[in-house]
Amino acid sequence: MDKQYLMRNIPAKREDRKLVSYAEYVERGGYEMLKKALLMQPADIVSTIKDAELRGRGGAGFPCGMKWSFLPEADGKPRYLCINCDEAEPGTFKDRLLVDFDPHSVIEGIAIACYACKLDAAFFFIRGEWAEQAKVMQDAINEAYANGIFGKQGLMNGASDFAVECTLHRGAGAYICGEETALLEAVEGKRGWPRIKPPFPAVSGLFGRPTIINNVETLAAVPLILEHGVEWWQSFGCESSIGGAASYGMKLMGVSGHVNNPDVFEVPLGITLRDLVDNYAGGMKDGRAFKGAIAGGVSMGILGPDQFDAEMDFDIGRKYDVMGLGTACPTVFDEKTDMIAVARNIARFFKNESCGQCTPCREGADWIYKLLVRIESGEGHLKDLDQLLEVAGSMGIMPGTTICGLSDGNNWAVRTIVNKYRSEFEARCKPSLVPVTANP
Ligand SMILES: Cc1cc2nc3c(=O)[nH]c(=O)nc-3n(C[C@H](O)[C@H](O)[C@H](O)COP(=O)(O)O)c2cc1C
Ligand code: SF4
Repeated sequence: MDKQYLMRNIPAKREDRKLVSYAEYVERGGYEMLKKALLMQPADIVSTIKDAELRGRGGAGFPCGMKWSFLPEADGKPRYLCINCDEAEPGTFKDRLLVDFDPHSVIEGIAIACYACKLDAAFFFIRGEWAEQAKVMQDAINEAYANGIFGKQGLMNGASDFAVECTLHRGAGAYICGEETALLEAVEGKRGWPRIKPPFPAVSGLFGRPTIINNVETLAAVPLILEHGVEWWQSFGCESSIGGAASYGMKLMGVSGHVNNPDVFEVPLGITLRDLVDNYAGGMKDGRAFKGAIAGGVSMGILGPDQFDAEMDFDIGRKYDVMGLGTACPTVFDEKTDMIAVARNIARFFKNESCGQCTPCREGADWIYKLLVRIESGEGHLKDLDQLLEVAGSMGIMPGTTICGLSDGNNWAVRTIVNKYRSEFEARCKPSLVPVTANP
């Protein structure tokens, strides 16, 4: 497999990468797909993205074209696009690559999406900690305005009557603002608290108006699909091996942890984790053995020692007892890793990041963390392990007890680590059967 990026402006070698300006982007054929899009009917662009079966790259893998088609008919009042560049999931750093080096490929995707879905304003929500990336993105948005992509005159210097405004909005450091409805609250200037769905954002989103929320990488794929076509897109990736929806296209996968060459790689969906680690990320650090890997952001849970050959596609959740592919950014652990410390560290993250609205998430996250601290210190009991599984298993949208999926992430991370490394946990526990009550 040629290790070049399809995202045409980013060299595969880290040392060759540099920020591509507006002028350089145009010189390399950039914004030609926006021109092409403006000659098409908006509905035909939505159909093309639907036919390509582009699945969202933000974590849930929801079909992008289908999401776009949920919008009601335009009624002359404002409609919005929110671009999710929060990327605060531990171990995830793939959208950042696009912002750092090729922001105009994202802006072109934004402009095409706005035209296709008749969305008048785009809000680019960027992770609060990314001051540098926010500047890069703001500069690129300014360049787009200066060159007539956005602004009152209509898209692409008035090539279309349809005008789009684009605003950058910086987060304030809360992980929950990556959840799409918390993001809407944050853009509205409020505290980032997820909303109960329905209504779904396509019907009632930002300021109560129809809104599409898409991930940065999802939008950057749109010009590529328009340029090369549906068949080309579907020539990468794989069909489902279990009768589900296919996993087409190339995917940015950021590999971190105990590997020799941590980086972001663009690979076809369906690549095995072993192939990704050995042939892209330089192999296991110091030749140590593979012990496990977070599937794709800590929320997804863990692939165990016998799951190194797991295929990185959207079937992964149903096949390997993890929640899903998530952001497809695995953190790899070698044989020396203390999995109890890993679980405790992840639990600390979720405890700190729970927004506090739902009791099972707010109280459960704290309870899980305390149990894990106790087990890690050697003061835990075997009974605590079952308690951990029970508390974790009762938290989340899937068990039906919370508003958003942050709690499902905590649930899957803890349960899969305890289940897949149970003997390690048991060896650290005392045998007595004294149970732990809430908030010990
Ligand atoms: C706790 C939580 C955090 C999330 N963080 C992000 C994020 O940082 N970036 C992102 O694109 N999606 C994130 N998501 C998923 C979004 O809610 C939403 O599904 C996504 O932005 C939709 O874009 P897509 O369909 O293009 O993937 C998060 C979800 C949850 C529950
Ligand atoms: S699940 Fe947790 S983070 Fe999500 S809304 Fe409820 S309390 Fe907030």
